[in-house]
Amino acid sequence: MDKIKITGGVPLHGSVQVSGAKNAALPILIASLLVEGKCTFRRVPQLQDIRTTLKLLSQMGAEVSSDLENNQVEITCAQITQFEAPYDLVRTMRASVVVLGPLLARFGHAKVSLPGGCAIGARPINYHLVGLERLGAEIRLEDGYVIASAKKLKGATVAFEFPSVGATENVMMAAVLAEGESVLENCAKEPEIVDLARALRAMGADIEGEGTEQIRIRGKRSLHGCDFEIMGDRIEAGTFLAAAFATGGEVEVRGIGPECLEAVLLKFEESGAKVTRGQNSLHLASPGTPKAVDITTQPYPGFPTDMQAQFMALMAVSTGASIITETIFENRFMHVPELARLGADITIRGNNALIRGKPRLTGAPLMATDLRASASLVIGGLCAEGETTVHRVYHLDRGYEKMETKLRALGARIERLSE
Ligand code: UD1
Repeated sequence: MDKIKITGGVPLHGSVQVSGAKNAALPILIASLLVEGKCTFRRVPQLQDIRTTLKLLSQMGAEVSSDLENNQVEITCAQITQFEAPYDLVRTMRASVVVLGPLLARFGHAKVSLPGGCAIGARPINYHLVGLERLGAEIRLEDGYVIASAKKLKGATVAFEFPSVGATENVMMAAVLAEGESVLENCAKEPEIVDLARALRAMGADIEGEGTEQIRIRGKRSLHGCDFEIMGDRIEAGTFLAAAFATGGEVEVRGIGPECLEAVLLKFEESGAKVTRGQNSLHLASPGTPKAVDITTQPYPGFPTDMQAQFMALMAVSTGASIITETIFENRFMHVPELARLGADITIRGNNALIRGKPRLTGAPLMATDLRASASLVIGGLCAEGETTVHRVYHLDRGYEKMETKLRALGARIERLSE
């Protein structure tokens, strides 16, 4: 198992290109199950979760040819022979539950393991199942599996109880091949949903309204292959900007439209950073120590839960006290005891964290617990005096492409070591 060693205290400077968005790429690769023809995907990030998705698709019978070093993948789902996402896979990557929608829509049956709990919370899939049932799927739970079938899905109105990202994606992918029109209400508005709609449209789907509460889909008999480029990763971009700010540096991130990160940029500005929004880039200059500001995580366009941990690392070195409220996941403060090992002063009360900023943190050995928590520990380590080691970096490898290489190019003293 690898670990990352950081010698902190160096302000980050320079320019960095963001990779393709993991959370857009996962459902989009899975959408290839909807079509017989070849789908070519570009700007696919080289990540563990992507390898897991490709493995799942090839186990199902897809022809997969990947050149992840060059961020390109070709998938042909002409001969699907397995219609199952097994427990071992869903357990490591819950996003694989979105195979339900496409498998049901094209083949009429699917078997997917229930994900179970994970480090950041219970994360049930009830909204996915209710939505698919509205389209006519029959669903039963058996031995920890969801077994779903439908002769032919039929368009319907689906009103989500909560704008769940995964449920919106699953039902969208089912509705594109359902008979007739579907109206999806209270949809998630995340940019990754918009990217999925663009990809489905490139496959011939008839969709409108993505990025708003209501998505309308007119089902097609069949869809076709596509050539599609994944959007840039807004969370990766936000992570680099937070790292630049926390270390007192100045960094440009390229390959990202600024509008998809607006809630985070506004908080950086409120905290004193100078942010410049380019057409396809962002620049942040730190004027000195960040000021404490409060944040509350919300569905998009609110402050993303996937940036909460990184923002907390920033607040740990701010002047003043801030409150961070997590409303999306019930157990997403696992980075707190680890940040405390660097000397951060953080108290948790329910879903609120009170952070009293400190002028300095000091390096320590740390344990990563989940993907975004790992990123916050890296930011903590970059600010801390002395040496920090982050263990269990496989969490980081699930979602950040070549993070330490990119940080090193910005001047960080960071290296990966084999344990
Ligand atoms: C996606 C992202 C994840 C991000 C999250 C919220 C991917 C691969 N992952 O996860 O990085 O943190 O959006 O922006 O895109 N819920 C239910 N029942 C359901 C579905 C969800 O209770 O059927 C709850 C979840 O437990 C959670 C909340 O709703 O508390 C939000 O979940 P959801 O929006 O579905 O997130 P994911 O799609 O799992």
